[in-house]
Amino acid sequence: MSNGFTLWFTGLSGAGKSTLAQAAAEELRSRGHRVEVLDGDEVRTNLSKGLGFSKEDRDTNIRRIGYVCRLLSRNGVIAISAAISPYREVRDEVRREHERFVEVFVKCPLEKLVERDVKGLYKKALAGEIAHFTGVSDPYEEPLKPEVVVESHIETVDESLGRLLARLEALGYICPNGVRR
Ligand code: ADX
Repeated sequence: MSNGFTLWFTGLSGAGKSTLAQAAAEELRSRGHRVEVLDGDEVRTNLSKGLGFSKEDRDTNIRRIGYVCRLLSRNGVIAISAAISPYREVRDEVRREHERFVEVFVKCPLEKLVERDVKGLYKKALAGEIAHFTGVSDPYEEPLKPEVVVESHIETVDESLGRLLARLEALGYICPNGVRR
């Protein structure tokens, strides 16, 4: 059995966490790994249903995701989280509970996110229609020592994925030829 680990994406809404997480999941599965993705939006409709966006609720959300990732990763699965996870302290708390934890900072300037505004939320947030919106009216604390930094406004998904996989190989968490079953 391959050894599991947790791949923890963090970054603002719309930065590209889910896209890269899905691309990574697909590639890792094709290499023979077992993978689960805990996506922010999806988690909030089941595991964290009812939670809002106060610091307390976000921290609860992140602790729950972190807990599931720990259970999965210690059983040989590559657990992938793709939630904003804006607070450094709780991300680091989740890291400490893990044996193997890879933090991927998906970086993108706010201007670009406002320009893209895939979900139309930045427009509303800037108009004051959504209170406590991360990056606009709520904090986002950048990771200080992420294993990988991806700049989604500069690189293509393939380029980011390539760098991410190279880092995982360098850490010895995956091998270039995949796993044998
Ligand atoms: S986290 O802060 O707890 O990690 P999470 O990733 O689960 O956030 O949810 C973020 C998603 O919820 C965003 O992509 C966006 O679609 C939606 N959302 C709704 N309200 C907010 C808000 N106030 N701040 C950030 N995202 C919000």
